[in-house]
Amino acid sequence: MTETGTTGGQRQTWTSNRGFILAAIGSAVGLGNIWRFPGVAYDSGGGAFLIPYLIALVTAGLPILFLDYAIGQRFRGSAPLALRRLWRKAEVIGWFQTMLLFIISVYYAAVIAWALSYFYFSFGNKWGSDTASFFVDDYLQASEPGISSELVAGVAWPLALVWVAIIIVLALGIAGGVEKVNVIGIPLLVLGFGALVIRAVTLPGAADGLNALFTPDWGELGNLNVWIAAYSQIFFSMSIAFGIMIAYSSFQRRRSNMTSSGLVVGFANSSFEILAGIGVFSALGFLAHQEGVGVADLEGLTGPILSFVTFPAVISEMPGSALFGALFFGSLVIAGFTSLVSLVVGVSVAIQEKFGLSQRVAAVVVGVVCAVVSFGLFATTTGLFALDTVDMFANNIGVVSSAIAMCVAVVWFARKGDLLRLHLNSVSTFELGKWWLPLIGVFAPVFLLVMMIQKIVDVINNGYEGYPDWYINLFGWGTVALAVIGAIVGTAISWRGRDDPAFRPWPSVDFLEGQKR
Ligand code: PHE
Repeated sequence: MTETGTTGGQRQTWTSNRGFILAAIGSAVGLGNIWRFPGVAYDSGGGAFLIPYLIALVTAGLPILFLDYAIGQRFRGSAPLALRRLWRKAEVIGWFQTMLLFIISVYYAAVIAWALSYFYFSFGNKWGSDTASFFVDDYLQASEPGISSELVAGVAWPLALVWVAIIIVLALGIAGGVEKVNVIGIPLLVLGFGALVIRAVTLPGAADGLNALFTPDWGELGNLNVWIAAYSQIFFSMSIAFGIMIAYSSFQRRRSNMTSSGLVVGFANSSFEILAGIGVFSALGFLAHQEGVGVADLEGLTGPILSFVTFPAVISEMPGSALFGALFFGSLVIAGFTSLVSLVVGVSVAIQEKFGLSQRVAAVVVGVVCAVVSFGLFATTTGLFALDTVDMFANNIGVVSSAIAMCVAVVWFARKGDLLRLHLNSVSTFELGKWWLPLIGVFAPVFLLVMMIQKIVDVINNGYEGYPDWYINLFGWGTVALAVIGAIVGTAISWRGRDDPAFRPWPSVDFLEGQKR
């Protein structure tokens, strides 16, 4: 079957379903699994967190993943093009998602750059004994929340390396670049991280760490914030409602089995997340053991501080520490890089299609623009605070509103929910029943809306991390405003790449209607 893309040529495809699955896992498994999940789970009820987490996976994670897959495979484009083909007015949601990808990619790259530096620092524990002041003062040279144009060389060099590598991978194309990186990277990651977890659970004190993580605090289940944490973790972690999974599945062949692949991806991602929890908390149990304190007394159990302050302290305490450090930071680099690839692919395919560019030109233009912004904001002395604020707003408000808008547009405005269900069932072995529609059409949007309002009220009343108001307005609300403005501008620009008039979704609507069940 020949397929025409917007530029008239043949649409590229993954070389196999395995290639797609690995790339989708590569996108999903990232910094979120290693540095975010363990801390979030610990803070939100420990073992009891697994319940809201699994419920979030089944009621929103997998259903919206399937929605992304269906839109991408059927309408064969990046988020703006595919959503436009689904319903003209939905193009704006696609650009909103594309803006979020752009925003996340510029700070995500900075964290990978830090991990690269720390990979190097592992050889010889260059962070010394005070890992907190090493990270904040010596390495990041962090001043206070503000705006600075002072580049930090130690961050800027590895960051340049990251962006050059990204541009090369993207320029090599979907099968030649993106797929290859994942086919090599994911097995490597599983081996490296697996070795790390095995080492970690055999350390003295590991059991205390695991008890701290898994001992359930059932009372927390009545806390709305715990449920919010579970749902936002699922979204970020599975890379859903960002348009990435739409773009990735647009490169799937038309007959590929989608829902079964989705189950594999979702299961792999959550397994990796739990594995990371086990590895990280075993290591923390070891640290507590060495320091003669309880795990609960340790500080910095989440986010950047967990990976770049607490973990180096663990590593320093260990016999054979260089290897352990290299495995940990090497895993962060690989996991992060394969996710960053997907973030930038999402943006570059959207630009390529809209402007009718060649894939190489789009890759270079998008890569260079992202790199410049990434340098300007995150390789400077104020990078840490900007990153924290932008991350919180892009994820808790940005992607949640994107998911709500997408579900409502598909089910209630375009009225294509059932068609997409029949589409998935016509190519997949795992069939979606009617239950899928109320999940994406009612449950997910309503729940996400409640959750988002709660978060917004919380930020308005309590601020965020004690940052000054002007700072929250600029980097926090400014992030959201930027995504909205970008979405409107993106939609208003006229299509220079032809939205191929000969495009016909496959299988045809008549065929699907005939299959109805
Ligand atoms: N899922 C990735 C992670 O867990 C991050 C990511 C978010 C990637 C959004 C792409 C889009 O770190």
